Amino acid sequence: MNTFSEIVAGLRLPVIQAPMFLVSGPAMVIAACRAGIIGSVPTQNVRSDAELAEWFGTIDAATGERGGCAPYAVNLIVHASYPRRDNDLEAVLRYRPRIVITALGSPRSVVDAIHAYGGIVLADVISVKLARKALDAGADGLVLVGAGAGGHTGAVTGMALVDEVRRFFAGPVVLGGGIGSGRAIRAAQVLGADLAYMGTRFIATTESMVSEAQKQMVVEAGSEDVFASDAFTGVNANWLRASVVAAGHDPQTLTRGQIDFSRQDQKRWRDLWSAGQGVGSVDRICPVAEVVERLRMEYRAAQVA
Ligand SMILES: Cc1cc2nc3c(=O)[nH]c(=O)nc-3n(C[C@H](O)[C@H](O)[C@H](O)COP(=O)(O)O)c2cc1C
Repeated sequence: MNTFSEIVAGLRLPVIQAPMFLVSGPAMVIAACRAGIIGSVPTQNVRSDAELAEWFGTIDAATGERGGCAPYAVNLIVHASYPRRDNDLEAVLRYRPRIVITALGSPRSVVDAIHAYGGIVLADVISVKLARKALDAGADGLVLVGAGAGGHTGAVTGMALVDEVRRFFAGPVVLGGGIGSGRAIRAAQVLGADLAYMGTRFIATTESMVSEAQKQMVVEAGSEDVFASDAFTGVNANWLRASVVAAGHDPQTLTRGQIDFSRQDQKRWRDLWSAGQGVGSVDRICPVAEVVERLRMEYRAAQVA
């Protein structure tokens, strides 16, 4: 099996299409992998074991490391309150995705089992303290989620995060948060990251599972239309203000919510739309392959001499 470095070397563009609740499903992952970047999906996007098995089957049948197709990753919520954690882990051990990205907790309880089949564990973290903890817990690498990210966001700028982490860790590092263009991907590499982690850039794609209205709002929004709040999940996340207002909330009077991922109910994220500060880079709805092609051109144009 390829090492992380070999996987990176085989990509057409150093990018992971980031996992997104209710947004990334098999169609997006397959399109991303075929376009030569790592596609990913959160296992929490399904409602049952049978559906998860079906997703793995569909993705496995359509991808594969031959023919320029990049490997895919799955995102596993490891927070104690997430009720499907054991079931999702069981499916991961059966279908053996090359990369597993843990989120919202320590990867300790899952690393040994994933390593046993040769999987690579990347831990999604938002601070240097959590980065150290994840590495102590056995993670192979880190996904550093900086300020301005879509979904649950960090508060520290990615610039500082990568720099500080690179002082003590030479292994796999992926940087996310507000990366929307090929120039920004190049910048992430210059900073010291191996790969860029991009979610928001892929919300308004043909393969995305969200409504046309949500895609359109992403197309029309700029960074000033995004605000961070811990009101809805108990953890800071970036939201499109217009969707919060449309759902009947006043962004000025929100109070902190309770952390409980057992209530990751579809309705809340279906009505409240998350996007990161890089949303201004999205100017039309198009297929994933077109987004990747455009990013590649921008990335090449930004080649450092
Ligand atoms: C709508 C949306 C849903 C998300 N859902 C998840 C999720 O289920 N699990 C997860 O680990 N991260 C999730 N994220 C965060 C992304 O994986 C990634 O960290 C983020 O998109 C990177 O920042 P960017 O959006 O500025 O590119 C989500 C992000 C968005 C925009």
